[in-house]
Amino acid sequence: MPTTRILAIALGVALTAGGAIAHDISKLPNTPAGKAVLARHNNFKQQGAAFKAINDELKKDRPDEALIASNAIRLKTLTSQLPSWFPKGSGPSPRLNTDAKATIWTDSAGFAAAVNRMQVESSKLQQFAAAGDIGGMNRQARAVGGACKACHDKFRTPAKD
Ligand code: HEC
Repeated sequence: MPTTRILAIALGVALTAGGAIAHDISKLPNTPAGKAVLARHNNFKQQGAAFKAINDELKKDRPDEALIASNAIRLKTLTSQLPSWFPKGSGPSPRLNTDAKATIWTDSAGFAAAVNRMQVESSKLQQFAAAGDIGGMNRQARAVGGACKACHDKFRTPAKD
């Protein structure tokens, strides 16, 4: 089995585990903060779907390059919007069911660095995809997965079940 394929499989497993989010978004209050958490949830779902589509394609013997390229653009665009998904006041509180850690707002420099890493890596992935460089896409998808994970490890509460 080629190394890239093994990596893609490992990444798929990591993402499946990371996607096991437990919080119940149906109980969010109808307030600006509640709406921000709901929008954030939907945006991350889209981000996850775009990245999954890319990885699913890369696992194939003949990946659909156009499909990867369009999802790479989607991923890059969503990532450029990511900072706006975290307005002040949308952090954890008794009435707000969110996995976002309070440190997102207290360690804003650290959070900005995690966002920047993600933006840089997803931008590179988009460039490899536009160039039709499958080897580059494989390597870079792994780097993007690392950027997702780095931020989740630091700024997202792990799923409880
Ligand atoms: C800069 C930080 C950061 C980066 C980068 C990041 N995430 Fe997240 N992600 C979060 C935080 C914080 C949450 C929790 C949001 C909440 O519960 O309000 C989250 C939640 C999620 C969720 C669960 C959404 C839900 O509410 O059910 C998915 C899926 C997800 N991220 C996928 C990804 C993928 C895929 C990537 C990389 C392509 C990524 N994330 C990159 C910070 C990040």
